[in-house]
Amino acid sequence: MRRAIFPGSFDPLTNGHLDIIKRSLPLFDEIIIAVLNNPEKNPMFSVAERCAMIEEILPEFNNGKCELIVDSFSGLTADFAKRRGASAIVRGIRAVSDYEYELRMALMNRRLEPTIETVFLMAAEEYSYVSSNLLKQVFTLGGRVEGLVPQSVEDKMKEKLGK
Ligand code: PNS
Repeated sequence: MRRAIFPGSFDPLTNGHLDIIKRSLPLFDEIIIAVLNNPEKNPMFSVAERCAMIEEILPEFNNGKCELIVDSFSGLTADFAKRRGASAIVRGIRAVSDYEYELRMALMNRRLEPTIETVFLMAAEEYSYVSSNLLKQVFTLGGRVEGLVPQSVEDKMKEKLGK
């Protein structure tokens, strides 16, 4: 059983995240999309809301081979991966600017749990500039985010800001 976790804030889920999930499907039997409980970051959506938004969209990605699970966690990603019996941590890389931060995290996670490998997947070019933080900023200031997040997520963002 090849089990991976795909950890992140997912505040909110973007089409860039979905692109990485899609690319991970053929590589693993089970992927746990692991939503970090990070109230100190003052997220737009609660953990429960973020998990619900991901759960709503996942059936579209069911390929009948890889099981997709949504869960949340607090504390260290490496600990969560170990607890759930994962052999890999999936992370997406959009541009060279991501590399340094991701490398440091991967090396630290490897030091914490030497048997768990970080697997980097390259996001599609069209999402290379898409991040949850940038989207939130653009949306909050009245910009359009269609095509960059699933429609259901855009609707929830509108609800959240009373638009
Ligand atoms: O989507 P993000 O915000 O880029 O995800 C970052 C995340 C959640 C992967 C990272 O912040 C993380 O792993 N946090 C949990 C705490 C932890 O393990 N810190 C040490 C990482 S080496």
